[in-house]
Amino acid sequence: MSDSVTTKTVKITGSKSDEKNLQYAAELIRQGKLVVFPTETVYGLGGNATDPTAAKKIYEAKGRPSDNPLIIHIAEPRDAELYAYTSPTYYKLAASFMPGPLTVILPKKDTVPASVTGGLDSVAIRCPSHSIAHSLIEKAGVAIAAPSANLSGKPSPTCAEHVIDDLLGRVDMIIDGGESEIGLESTIVKLDGEKAILLRPGGITFDALCCVLDDVTINPAVAEQLAANERPLSPGMKYKHYAPSAPLTLLSGDEKKVTEFLLAEQKAQRTAILCYDEEISLLKGDSNGELLIPIGNRDDLDAQARSLFAALRKADSLGAEKIYAHLPNMNGLGLALYNRMIRAAAHTVKNID
Ligand code: TXA
Ligand code: MG
Repeated sequence: MSDSVTTKTVKITGSKSDEKNLQYAAELIRQGKLVVFPTETVYGLGGNATDPTAAKKIYEAKGRPSDNPLIIHIAEPRDAELYAYTSPTYYKLAASFMPGPLTVILPKKDTVPASVTGGLDSVAIRCPSHSIAHSLIEKAGVAIAAPSANLSGKPSPTCAEHVIDDLLGRVDMIIDGGESEIGLESTIVKLDGEKAILLRPGGITFDALCCVLDDVTINPAVAEQLAANERPLSPGMKYKHYAPSAPLTLLSGDEKKVTEFLLAEQKAQRTAILCYDEEISLLKGDSNGELLIPIGNRDDLDAQARSLFAALRKADSLGAEKIYAHLPNMNGLGLALYNRMIRAAAHTVKNID
């Protein structure tokens, strides 16, 4: 799509005009146009999932390689039947986690064009819980294919301002529904009969999946770097993703020594620090703290998940030349934070003892 498209931006405010705006957005989807909408994870760049031309427009608007498949969003878990070959395991997951931040990969039916799945014979299905997303899909009467609504290589958008920065003039409509509740993209699970493989950690944790399924494993690419010649299970894993412009280094090691290191580094150049709220006064010293970007309390993983992508964008907008953050541990939601941060850092970790 060229840069000359006029983008209509609307805010959903709980008023009477919401219904009219959502009807209009649904009509745009049916016409093969592009609508950005909020979900509980991040904003999605949506188009008709059964229309190959809409898929092509999505890839163009994002500047995304067309071998990286899209997730299709449905209004009810059973709507998966229209697009994929389901299984009892799918319905087990659906009963516990849908609607919600879970994407399930299943064998695809012919109703989904090859351009949506990047030529794969599987399709990623998600039933979002966000009321605006749900209402839009229901009104459109068709599944909505939607990657995260960022330009390829930028962090996923967690508010309408991020979307406007990236996609104004490239999409037909942007629906502003406020800040994303979770802030990291959905958990992706690939099903192979009874077996489940976690491809991307998110709001539904590995432990939560283990409570429902007997056979779940974590794909090694979630936490480790792929060898140059390795083919990932999920095409998205081979791309750098979520990257800020300035190099990000993750720090581990003794807390006091990490603080000393950061205090020294701060003086050297425009160094942004994604810090815990408790660290602000310590790291601020006598500076104005402009480049300190708090991401939540040390133990509040929900808050950190919500603020991470906005923090990475902020580091860029402040003109940071270097960025530091703490290496998260991999427990619970920590695994999702670890997965996003380690990739944003291109696996650069510095241990300070
Ligand atoms: O929370 C989310 O999942 C958001 C919102 C908008 O729903 N969407 C999102 O989409 O994050 P996207 O396109 O940015 O990430 C989808 C990931 C990609 O890494 C892609 O490679 C993978 O899912 N994927 C999609 N279909 C797949 C398939 N059939 N097999 C393996 N991986 C697949
Ligand atoms: Mg994405």
